[in-house]
Amino acid sequence: MSPTKPTKEKIFIGVAWPYANGSLHLGHIAGCYLPADIFARYHKMKGDNVLMVSGSDEHGTPITITAEKENITPQGVVDRYHREHAENMKQFGISFDLFTRTTTQNHANVVQKIFLTLHKKGYIYAKNVDAFFCEQCNRFLPDRYVEGTCPGCGNEHARGDQCDNCGKLLEPQEIQNVKCKLCGGTPLIKKSEHLFFSLSKFEPRLLDWIKDKTYWKSNVLKFTRNWLLNGLNDRAITRDINWGIAVPLKGFEEKRLYVWFDAVIGYLSASKEWAQNHGDPKKWEHWWKDPKAKHYYFLAKDNIPFHSLIWPSILMGYDESLNLPYDIPANEYLCLQGEQFSKSRGVGIWVPDILKKFDADAIRYYLSINMPENKDANWNWADFIAKNNDELVGTYGNFIHRVLSFTYKNYGHIPKKGTLTTEDKEALKEIEKVHKVIAESLEKCEFKKGLRAVMNLAQYGNVYFDHESPWSLIKTDKKRCGTVLYVCLQISQALAVCMAPYLPFSSNMLWKLLGHSDSIAKVNWDDALLDLQEETLLQNPSPLFKKLLLNDVITEADPFSKLDLRVAKILEVKDHPQADKLYILNVDLGPLGKRVVVAGMKPFYTKEQITGKTIVLVANLKPALLRGVESKGMILAAEDTQGVVSLLYPKDASPGTEIFVEGIAREPAPLVEFGEFKQIIMTVNEKSEAVYNGKPLKTKQNTVVTDKPVKPGAKIL
Ligand code: MF3
Ligand code: ZN
Repeated sequence: MSPTKPTKEKIFIGVAWPYANGSLHLGHIAGCYLPADIFARYHKMKGDNVLMVSGSDEHGTPITITAEKENITPQGVVDRYHREHAENMKQFGISFDLFTRTTTQNHANVVQKIFLTLHKKGYIYAKNVDAFFCEQCNRFLPDRYVEGTCPGCGNEHARGDQCDNCGKLLEPQEIQNVKCKLCGGTPLIKKSEHLFFSLSKFEPRLLDWIKDKTYWKSNVLKFTRNWLLNGLNDRAITRDINWGIAVPLKGFEEKRLYVWFDAVIGYLSASKEWAQNHGDPKKWEHWWKDPKAKHYYFLAKDNIPFHSLIWPSILMGYDESLNLPYDIPANEYLCLQGEQFSKSRGVGIWVPDILKKFDADAIRYYLSINMPENKDANWNWADFIAKNNDELVGTYGNFIHRVLSFTYKNYGHIPKKGTLTTEDKEALKEIEKVHKVIAESLEKCEFKKGLRAVMNLAQYGNVYFDHESPWSLIKTDKKRCGTVLYVCLQISQALAVCMAPYLPFSSNMLWKLLGHSDSIAKVNWDDALLDLQEETLLQNPSPLFKKLLLNDVITEADPFSKLDLRVAKILEVKDHPQADKLYILNVDLGPLGKRVVVAGMKPFYTKEQITGKTIVLVANLKPALLRGVESKGMILAAEDTQGVVSLLYPKDASPGTEIFVEGIAREPAPLVEFGEFKQIIMTVNEKSEAVYNGKPLKTKQNTVVTDKPVKPGAKIL
């Protein structure tokens, strides 16, 4: 076996910076961190010079809105989630050379320097523009502070700067039916002076630059070409907000740089930080100034324009000698049983939770074999269990375990390789062939294809093992048996190396079980083909993977289980003497007695309309004083985007009846804080049913519905 002498490449890998405003979910991992890590590990094993950086994206309205919701400071939000992200990346084995954050001084310095250079070169100019302003809240409403209809695709939940649904970048005046996210009011348009980045000036250079990018994924190329063909608009890069990087220009002291302008610059600032940390402050130039270095950016599809148009323009405008992206292998989305992961809608599998329950490699396997490379993929729990048990345990783990345990038991060391038969030689050839196929796939970022090739080699090993049946040879021809096992161990060694980019933890275990003492991350890619050392002592192997039961995935601690939702009947309605929108209601909870609750129903229902009505009450909400009257619980109502409000109606169930969701244990806490309750997102579906996580709220007989028509997606509170 003659490994080819590889030429060293310089590879820079930038991975989209996650907002530090919430836990990571599996959509993030499948979308960019895992593919980037597989790619980085492969290139490091090949001996290439790899620098992989990312960090927490800590500025802008994603952070301030979260801070306002949770009633803590923006700094508190980013500190909490940066720590969590960094920890989770490590647990998942994402092998960053640096995972930093955008609130470092270094980052601010680099961003301001780039800003000033672009400004000096005439790529940044000031302009008075229309901006949303909410009179009730007495403030400007940048980006996520407004929601409206996307002029491109009609999505009603587009944000001020981008539509999540179609990815279109939006300017304030483009978005329709705008609402203030703080108070629901309709904002005014007010003039505000902002700084603009002349994206349009870069059009010709961008067009020229993408000419040879025919190797890009078709979705990335199509998106990018379309934007260019439609003509690029200059982009506002300042915001009326007080959290972010200061604008180093007179007259803009009250504003901050737009989060996306600072975030993409993180790739460069993080490279510089890494170099400083390594005692060689100029080392970043290795990757950024050598035209032969290749820059790869991993991200999910909604981030494409920022990486394929805006970031390249910033780089072109700032310093011609810096490398532009070489490839942007953006992934599609991972969905959860058919629905897009979304923090705001409460659909997701959170990384800190799932890491407590399963080994990182089991999750990495399912996400890799099921990666949303060219189309959206689905996380399905039953399929996760099945693929873990049938493929990871049943095919790969099984081959490794039967080979290692049989050899250990009968030899205790790597047996001697005797004379090779045609089958043996074929098997060794197969290893070389597969090793090459995997490398080719990984070079092209075809991760699923590469993993399938590894799994085929494991399956090949199983067939070879069965065919040669060492368990009977051991009785008749121990020498021949040793040769067969030698070949099997040779396959195992190749599997350890080829699997290492995908499943680093178990590959490392396997590598050690084969008698090696170094860690798999230090091993060269071509060591997959090294001849094993006969007589090397083996350890008693334990299985690499665990079988899983469907029971393991039933979620116990769903926050919904804490709620005590009950059917109640409204007995009496009075006006609140201190508030014109509130009623004071006396409600009947059957065996639980009667109580007083305050509800903001007056603008939507007359007294006559609700007296005698059956409704749904959160019976264990912490009592609250509402304008001097204590409310013991809260009545659930739905509100849609048109502002239509409807009570929930549990049909004719009797007062006190418990309301539940199938599959979630009903374990009400003595009292639930309002803040906690707010995190439990319930909405209305197409059938007018109240749903939590896609599943209807119900009594034993009926589902809970709205008592008048509201638009699907209406929020329940
Ligand atoms: N925080 C952004 C998101 O989650 C991604 C930023 S990528 C960066 O969509 F490179 F700009 F930081
Ligand atoms: Zn407002």
